[in-house]
Amino acid sequence: MSQTTAEQRREELVRLYHEVRDCHRCPLGAVRTNPVFGMGNADADLMFIGEAPGAEEDRQGKPFVGRAGKLLDELLAEIGMDRRRDTFIANVLKSRPPGNRDPQPEEIEACKPYLTRQIQLIEPKVISTLGNFATKLITESPTGITRCCGKPQARVVADLPVTIYPLFHPAAALRTPSVLARLREDFHRIPDLLGEQESRDEASDLSLAGATVPAGPSQLDLFGG
Ligand code: URA
Repeated sequence: MSQTTAEQRREELVRLYHEVRDCHRCPLGAVRTNPVFGMGNADADLMFIGEAPGAEEDRQGKPFVGRAGKLLDELLAEIGMDRRRDTFIANVLKSRPPGNRDPQPEEIEACKPYLTRQIQLIEPKVISTLGNFATKLITESPTGITRCCGKPQARVVADLPVTIYPLFHPAAALRTPSVLARLREDFHRIPDLLGEQESRDEASDLSLAGATVPAGPSQLDLFGG
């Protein structure tokens, strides 16, 4: 359980944003228009991790604002959720790879400490990795998304107990109707997964016999959109 309040963690996240804004740990820092740190509720139970910003994300400095993002918002709406209120969305890379090429291992390595810190500060209960790059990085396994999508994994990530819930990337779902059908089906299990985590947390709070006061939700939209 966190030793810091939601407000302290949110302030730390803003400090991290400023670090990412000035980051030149890899050559992508020199070619991006804007870094894409992430957006949403800094105290969200559900975190999405995508691959890397595309052209529109690079222009606006926000994650998933193109067609794939529209689909993500539609799927969230189907389960009664809203990206700003209920989730935090980040990417493996904070800068756009030119021409939307795949992230390179050294770029992933350079950016990884930022993602680890984001996870530690947001303290999500469920991390949904979107597509192969995020899934392989967070599960630390070479198993591809086709084999593990929709299968929740109880793990420790960034020193926190979480449920990793790998999903197909929305961009892949836009290309292939059967992938969209599977993504939608998997998406509809998210509320149950969050509920199961909550019941486990309540049970462990009771066993500790310590009352925990849930912190009020704090909204973080670092880009004010
Ligand atoms: N695809 C991603 O993986 N991330 C984005 O932010 C946008 C598209």
